[in-house]
Amino acid sequence: MKLIKATDYKDMSKKAASIFAAQITLKPNCVLGLATGSTPLGTYAQLINWYNDGDLDFSQVKTVNLDEYVGLDGNNNQSYRYFMNDKLFNHVNIDKANTNVPNGKATDKQAECDRYEALIKALGGIDVQLLGIGNNGHIGFNEPNKYFDKGTHEVNLTESTITANARFFATMDEVPKTAISMGVQTIMQAKKIVLIANGPAKADIIYETCFGPITPDVPASALQLHPDVTVIVDEEAYATVAKKLGK
Ligand code: F6R
Repeated sequence: MKLIKATDYKDMSKKAASIFAAQITLKPNCVLGLATGSTPLGTYAQLINWYNDGDLDFSQVKTVNLDEYVGLDGNNNQSYRYFMNDKLFNHVNIDKANTNVPNGKATDKQAECDRYEALIKALGGIDVQLLGIGNNGHIGFNEPNKYFDKGTHEVNLTESTITANARFFATMDEVPKTAISMGVQTIMQAKKIVLIANGPAKADIIYETCFGPITPDVPASALQLHPDVTVIVDEEAYATVAKKLGK
């Protein structure tokens, strides 16, 4: 694992975007693994800036996203498909047919999980996967568990996630109760992984992820076994590492 300390959120975003820009430049038809959430917003904004400057061409790029809520279609502004269109795809010259997010409206969830896993293989695997991390070490929707989740699977959302999401929906029935997520194994099969984290709330989990025991209690700790992981954090997220390692 390479752990890179950025000065702040902007610097973290620029460093992460540089890795993705290099990938697109070196292999124009690459497969990018993408994440939603607040952490990658600056990375996507930086990629859009470089596209607007004429320095990046997304015309042959293919993407696969980590996860999607079950029950939401792409027009729902809470869906991860909507997020990706809104925060990246609508602003660059990517062919939307080349962008993939699990289908939250699929009637047969297991068939959708199998399709998504097969799709990633058919694309030749993920060249570089972007990850955010939850305060409890989750990556994708892989929450702390007794074992590492393997392939793409349906996940029961925790009560706290369901309650937190409730404010975005008119009725409780509409709030997603499950999601489809790449498994830890799917993520580990990416050729290269970039994990980004910022802010003091992420400081302890970054230390655990990089230096703690490899355990499904901290799903991101599996990344220690991957041969090409770059973790980019701002100074606040680096704080526990600095304290414990005396740096
Ligand atoms: C998003 C995802 C999640 C987030 C994580 C961090 O597709 O899979 O694992 O990366 O919850 O979220 P933020 O960036 O909002 O702190």
